[in-house]
Amino acid sequence: MISEVISEMTSEVISEMTSEVISEMTSEMIGRPTAAAAAAGAVVAGAGGIAGSGAPVLKGENVSRYYDGAGIRVTALDQVSFEIYQDEFVVVLGPSGSGKSTLLNLLGGMDQPSGGKLWYQGRDLTTFTPGQLSDYRREVVGFVFQFFNLLPSLTALENVALAAAVAKEAMSPGEVLGLVGLAGRERHFPAQLSGGEQQRVSIARAIVKRPALLLCDEPTGALDSKNSAAVVRLLLEMGRAFHCPVLVITHNGEVARVARRVFYMKDGRIDRVGINPSPLPVEELVL
Ligand SMILES: Nc1ncnc2c1ncn2[C@@H]1O[C@H](COP(=O)(O)OP(=O)(O)OP(=O)(O)O)[C@@H](O)[C@H]1O
Ligand SMILES: [Mg+2]
Repeated sequence: MISEVISEMTSEVISEMTSEVISEMTSEMIGRPTAAAAAAGAVVAGAGGIAGSGAPVLKGENVSRYYDGAGIRVTALDQVSFEIYQDEFVVVLGPSGSGKSTLLNLLGGMDQPSGGKLWYQGRDLTTFTPGQLSDYRREVVGFVFQFFNLLPSLTALENVALAAAVAKEAMSPGEVLGLVGLAGRERHFPAQLSGGEQQRVSIARAIVKRPALLLCDEPTGALDSKNSAAVVRLLLEMGRAFHCPVLVITHNGEVARVARRVFYMKDGRIDRVGINPSPLPVEELVL
Protein backbone atom coordinates (compact mmCIF):
# COMPACT_ATOMS: atom_id res chain seq x y z
CA MET A 1 0.00 0.00 0.00
CA ILE A 2 2.82 2.34 0.89
CA SER A 3 4.45 1.77 -2.49
CA GLU A 4 1.23 2.75 -4.24
CA VAL A 5 1.04 5.93 -2.23
CA ILE A 6 4.64 6.73 -2.94
CA SER A 7 4.46 5.94 -6.64
CA GLU A 8 1.84 8.59 -7.05
CA MET A 9 4.18 11.22 -5.77
CA THR A 10 6.12 13.61 -7.88
CA SER A 11 8.90 15.82 -6.74
CA GLU A 12 6.41 18.69 -6.58
CA VAL A 13 4.18 16.69 -4.27
CA ILE A 14 7.01 15.71 -1.99
CA SER A 15 8.06 19.29 -1.57
CA GLU A 16 4.55 20.00 -0.27
CA MET A 17 4.59 17.10 2.19
CA THR A 18 4.77 17.79 5.87
CA SER A 19 7.47 16.29 8.01
CA GLU A 20 4.81 14.35 9.90
CA VAL A 21 3.64 12.61 6.74
CA ILE A 22 7.18 11.73 5.71
CA SER A 23 7.97 10.56 9.21
CA GLU A 24 4.89 8.33 9.32
CA MET A 25 5.58 6.88 5.89
CA THR A 26 9.19 6.22 6.66
CA SER A 27 8.41 4.67 9.98
CA GLU A 28 6.11 2.22 8.17
CA MET A 29 8.71 1.53 5.49
CA ILE A 30 11.61 0.99 7.83
CA GLY A 31 9.51 -1.08 10.18
CA ARG A 32 10.34 0.71 13.34
CA PRO A 33 8.44 3.32 15.32
CA THR A 34 10.64 6.32 14.70
CA ALA A 35 8.57 8.79 16.70
CA ALA A 36 8.48 6.50 19.72
CA ALA A 37 12.15 5.76 19.38
CA ALA A 38 12.90 9.45 19.24
CA ALA A 39 10.86 10.05 22.35
CA ALA A 40 12.78 7.35 24.18
CA GLY A 41 16.12 8.79 23.16
CA ALA A 42 17.41 12.31 23.00
CA VAL A 43 15.23 15.35 23.32
CA VAL A 44 13.88 16.50 19.98
CA ALA A 45 13.09 20.15 19.72
CA GLY A 46 12.54 22.31 16.69
CA ALA A 47 13.98 21.82 13.27
CA GLY A 48 17.55 21.15 14.28
CA GLY A 49 17.20 18.55 17.01
CA ILE A 50 19.22 19.10 20.13
CA ALA A 51 22.19 17.74 21.92
CA GLY A 52 20.24 16.38 24.82
CA SER A 53 20.05 13.48 27.17
CA GLY A 54 21.41 10.05 26.38
CA ALA A 55 24.82 8.89 25.36
CA PRO A 56 26.36 10.50 22.31
CA VAL A 57 26.22 8.51 19.08
CA LEU A 58 29.67 9.79 18.17
CA LYS A 59 32.34 11.07 20.46
CA GLY A 60 35.80 12.33 19.59
CA GLU A 61 38.59 13.06 22.03
CA ASN A 62 41.66 14.93 20.80
CA VAL A 63 41.20 13.52 17.32
CA SER A 64 44.07 14.44 15.01
CA ARG A 65 44.88 13.66 11.42
CA TYR A 66 48.15 14.64 9.93
CA TYR A 67 50.02 13.81 6.78
CA ASP A 68 53.80 13.52 6.68
CA GLY A 69 55.53 13.90 3.38
CA ALA A 70 58.47 15.67 1.74
CA GLY A 71 59.79 16.63 5.16
CA ILE A 72 56.69 18.57 6.18
CA ARG A 73 53.70 17.70 8.26
CA VAL A 74 50.26 18.87 7.18
CA THR A 75 47.90 18.92 10.13
CA ALA A 76 44.44 18.46 8.66
CA LEU A 77 42.78 17.96 12.03
CA ASP A 78 44.29 19.21 15.25
CA GLN A 79 43.09 17.51 18.44
CA VAL A 80 39.37 18.05 18.05
CA SER A 81 36.92 16.90 20.69
CA PHE A 82 33.17 16.75 20.23
CA GLU A 83 30.01 14.79 20.89
CA ILE A 84 27.18 14.17 18.45
CA TYR A 85 23.77 13.01 19.60
CA GLN A 86 20.83 11.09 18.27
CA ASP A 87 18.46 13.18 16.15
CA GLU A 88 20.87 16.07 15.77
CA PHE A 89 21.22 18.05 12.58
CA VAL A 90 24.70 19.54 12.81
CA VAL A 91 26.10 21.94 10.24
CA VAL A 92 29.87 22.14 9.75
CA LEU A 93 31.10 25.47 8.43
CA GLY A 94 34.61 26.71 7.77
CA PRO A 95 37.00 27.97 5.12
CA SER A 96 38.55 25.73 2.50
CA GLY A 97 41.26 23.55 4.01
CA SER A 98 39.98 23.90 7.59
CA GLY A 99 39.51 20.13 8.00
CA LYS A 100 35.78 19.65 7.38
CA SER A 101 36.07 16.74 4.94
CA THR A 102 38.84 15.19 7.00
CA LEU A 103 36.55 15.16 10.04
CA LEU A 104 33.63 13.71 8.07
CA ASN A 105 35.79 11.02 6.49
CA LEU A 106 37.01 9.93 9.91
CA LEU A 107 33.44 9.80 11.24
CA GLY A 108 32.44 7.78 8.20
CA GLY A 109 35.17 5.18 8.68
CA MET A 110 36.79 6.13 5.39
CA ASP A 111 39.98 7.16 7.16
CA GLN A 112 41.59 6.61 10.56
CA PRO A 113 42.90 9.30 12.95
CA SER A 114 46.62 9.78 13.49
CA GLY A 115 45.91 10.40 17.17
CA GLY A 116 43.12 10.60 19.69
CA LYS A 117 40.03 8.46 20.18
CA LEU A 118 36.81 8.24 18.23
CA TRP A 119 33.81 6.30 19.47
CA TYR A 120 30.64 5.24 17.71
CA GLN A 121 28.02 4.04 20.22
CA GLY A 122 30.80 3.51 22.73
CA ARG A 123 32.94 1.42 20.35
CA ASP A 124 36.37 2.86 19.63
CA LEU A 125 36.70 3.17 15.85
CA THR A 126 40.46 3.63 16.16
CA THR A 127 40.78 0.00 17.24
CA PHE A 128 38.70 -1.38 14.36
CA THR A 129 40.29 -3.78 11.90
CA PRO A 130 39.88 -2.95 8.18
CA GLY A 131 37.08 -5.54 8.05
CA GLN A 132 35.24 -4.00 11.00
CA LEU A 133 35.60 -0.56 9.43
CA SER A 134 34.21 -1.89 6.19
CA ASP A 135 31.19 -3.33 8.05
CA TYR A 136 30.76 0.03 9.80
CA ARG A 137 30.74 1.90 6.49
CA ARG A 138 28.35 -0.58 4.94
CA GLU A 139 25.91 -0.97 7.81
CA VAL A 140 26.02 2.25 9.77
CA VAL A 141 27.00 5.14 7.55
CA GLY A 142 25.02 6.84 4.81
CA PHE A 143 27.27 9.22 2.87
CA VAL A 144 26.14 11.97 0.50
CA PHE A 145 28.74 13.67 -1.70
CA GLN A 146 28.90 17.03 -3.44
CA PHE A 147 29.10 15.52 -6.91
CA PHE A 148 26.66 12.69 -6.21
CA ASN A 149 29.14 9.88 -7.11
CA LEU A 150 26.48 7.90 -8.94
CA LEU A 151 27.57 5.20 -11.35
CA PRO A 152 26.77 6.66 -14.77
CA SER A 153 26.09 3.33 -16.45
CA LEU A 154 23.47 2.31 -13.90
CA THR A 155 19.91 3.62 -13.69
CA ALA A 156 18.66 5.50 -10.65
CA LEU A 157 17.06 2.30 -9.37
CA GLU A 158 20.19 0.24 -9.98
CA ASN A 159 22.38 2.80 -8.19
CA VAL A 160 20.17 2.54 -5.12
CA ALA A 161 19.79 -1.24 -5.44
CA LEU A 162 23.56 -1.64 -5.44
CA ALA A 163 23.78 -0.06 -2.00
CA ALA A 164 20.80 -2.12 -0.83
CA ALA A 165 22.43 -5.34 -2.01
CA VAL A 166 25.36 -5.03 0.38
CA ALA A 167 23.35 -3.94 3.42
CA LYS A 168 21.85 -6.34 5.93
CA GLU A 169 18.38 -4.89 6.29
CA ALA A 170 17.87 -2.67 3.30
CA MET A 171 14.55 -1.17 2.32
CA SER A 172 13.04 -1.50 -1.11
CA PRO A 173 15.08 0.67 -3.51
CA GLY A 174 11.94 1.58 -5.48
CA GLU A 175 10.09 2.72 -2.38
CA VAL A 176 13.02 4.82 -1.23
CA LEU A 177 13.22 6.51 -4.62
CA GLY A 178 9.54 7.32 -4.18
CA LEU A 179 10.26 8.76 -0.77
CA VAL A 180 12.76 11.22 -2.22
CA GLY A 181 10.28 12.29 -4.88
CA LEU A 182 11.60 10.27 -7.82
CA ALA A 183 8.79 7.81 -8.48
CA GLY A 184 8.60 7.33 -12.23
CA ARG A 185 12.28 8.15 -12.78
CA GLU A 186 13.63 4.75 -11.69
CA ARG A 187 14.85 3.74 -15.13
CA HIS A 188 16.60 6.98 -15.92
CA PHE A 189 20.37 7.18 -15.99
CA PRO A 190 22.16 9.93 -14.02
CA ALA A 191 22.81 11.86 -17.24
CA GLN A 192 19.05 11.99 -17.81
CA LEU A 193 18.42 13.58 -14.41
CA SER A 194 18.95 17.14 -13.21
CA GLY A 195 21.56 17.88 -10.54
CA GLY A 196 18.87 18.12 -7.88
CA GLU A 197 17.39 14.81 -8.98
CA GLN A 198 20.79 13.14 -9.02
CA GLN A 199 21.37 14.34 -5.48
CA ARG A 200 17.99 12.85 -4.51
CA VAL A 201 19.14 9.52 -5.95
CA SER A 202 22.32 9.74 -3.93
CA ILE A 203 20.30 10.51 -0.79
CA ALA A 204 18.11 7.49 -1.58
CA ARG A 205 21.27 5.41 -1.98
CA ALA A 206 22.51 6.62 1.41
CA ILE A 207 19.26 5.91 3.26
CA VAL A 208 18.16 2.65 1.61
CA LYS A 209 20.40 0.78 4.04
CA ARG A 210 18.64 2.38 7.06
CA PRO A 211 21.78 4.20 8.18
CA ALA A 212 22.37 5.07 11.80
CA LEU A 213 24.36 8.10 10.69
CA LEU A 214 23.99 10.43 7.71
CA LEU A 215 27.15 12.29 6.65
CA CYS A 216 26.97 14.86 3.87
CA ASP A 217 29.99 16.60 2.37
CA GLU A 218 28.77 19.76 0.66
CA PRO A 219 25.57 18.10 -0.58
CA THR A 220 24.32 21.38 -2.01
CA GLY A 221 27.67 22.51 -3.42
CA ALA A 222 26.75 21.64 -7.00
CA LEU A 223 23.10 22.72 -6.87
CA ASP A 224 21.17 25.90 -7.56
CA SER A 225 19.46 27.66 -4.69
CA LYS A 226 16.04 26.05 -5.12
CA ASN A 227 17.42 22.52 -5.29
CA SER A 228 19.78 23.29 -2.41
CA ALA A 229 16.90 24.23 -0.14
CA ALA A 230 14.97 21.11 -1.19
CA VAL A 231 17.98 18.89 -0.48
CA VAL A 232 18.57 20.45 2.96
CA ARG A 233 14.91 19.90 3.75
CA LEU A 234 15.06 16.29 2.60
CA LEU A 235 18.17 15.62 4.69
CA LEU A 236 16.58 17.14 7.75
CA GLU A 237 13.45 15.09 7.28
CA MET A 238 15.40 11.89 6.66
CA GLY A 239 17.30 12.47 9.89
CA ARG A 240 14.07 12.90 11.78
CA ALA A 241 12.43 9.93 10.14
CA PHE A 242 15.41 7.63 10.62
CA HIS A 243 16.12 8.95 14.07
CA CYS A 244 19.78 9.43 13.20
CA PRO A 245 22.26 12.28 13.45
CA VAL A 246 22.87 14.21 10.24
CA LEU A 247 26.10 16.13 9.69
CA VAL A 248 26.16 18.55 6.79
CA ILE A 249 29.27 20.35 5.56
CA THR A 250 28.48 23.52 3.70
CA HIS A 251 29.97 26.81 2.65
CA ASN A 252 26.55 28.40 2.81
CA GLY A 253 26.02 30.12 6.15
CA GLU A 254 22.28 30.26 5.52
CA VAL A 255 22.05 26.47 5.85
CA ALA A 256 23.35 26.82 9.40
CA ARG A 257 20.17 28.67 10.35
CA VAL A 258 18.14 25.43 10.37
CA ALA A 259 20.61 23.62 12.64
CA ARG A 260 20.59 23.75 16.39
CA ARG A 261 24.36 23.30 16.57
CA VAL A 262 27.00 24.55 14.19
CA PHE A 263 30.64 23.48 14.24
CA TYR A 264 32.77 26.39 13.03
CA MET A 265 36.09 24.95 11.87
CA LYS A 266 39.33 26.82 11.47
CA ASP A 267 42.89 25.56 10.94
CA GLY A 268 42.00 21.96 11.70
CA ARG A 269 40.15 22.74 14.90
CA ILE A 270 36.54 23.16 15.93
CA ASP A 271 37.04 26.80 16.70
CA ARG A 272 33.58 27.31 18.14
CA VAL A 273 30.29 25.45 18.50
CA GLY A 274 27.39 27.76 17.76
CA ILE A 275 24.10 27.03 19.49
CA ASN A 276 21.00 28.21 17.75
CA PRO A 277 18.19 28.38 20.33
CA SER A 278 15.48 28.74 17.72
CA PRO A 279 16.47 27.13 14.44
CA LEU A 280 14.71 28.38 11.35
CA PRO A 281 11.88 26.05 10.27
CA VAL A 282 13.30 24.38 7.19
CA GLU A 283 10.20 25.31 5.18
CA GLU A 284 11.32 28.93 5.53
CA LEU A 285 14.86 28.31 4.32
CA VAL A 286 15.71 30.40 1.28
CA LEU A 287 19.12 29.87 -0.30
N1 LIG B 1 45.94 13.12 1.60
C1 LIG B 1 46.37 14.31 1.98
N2 LIG B 1 47.69 14.60 2.01
C2 LIG B 1 48.14 15.79 2.44
N3 LIG B 1 47.34 16.79 2.89
C3 LIG B 1 46.02 16.56 2.89
C4 LIG B 1 45.46 15.33 2.45
N4 LIG B 1 44.09 15.41 2.57
C5 LIG B 1 43.85 16.63 3.07
N5 LIG B 1 44.98 17.32 3.26
C6 LIG B 1 45.11 18.68 3.79
O1 LIG B 1 44.38 18.75 4.99
C7 LIG B 1 43.75 20.02 5.13
C8 LIG B 1 42.26 19.85 5.38
O2 LIG B 1 41.66 19.31 4.20
P1 LIG B 1 40.10 19.10 4.09
O3 LIG B 1 39.87 18.40 2.80
O4 LIG B 1 39.61 18.41 5.30
O5 LIG B 1 39.54 20.59 4.05
P2 LIG B 1 38.06 21.11 3.86
O6 LIG B 1 37.74 21.96 5.05
O7 LIG B 1 37.15 19.98 3.56
O8 LIG B 1 38.22 22.07 2.58
P3 LIG B 1 37.20 22.35 1.36
O9 LIG B 1 36.18 23.32 1.88
O10 LIG B 1 38.09 22.97 0.33
O11 LIG B 1 36.61 21.05 0.91
C9 LIG B 1 44.09 20.79 3.86
O12 LIG B 1 45.18 21.63 4.09
C10 LIG B 1 44.49 19.71 2.88
O13 LIG B 1 45.39 20.16 1.92
MG1 LIG C 1 36.05 19.42 1.86
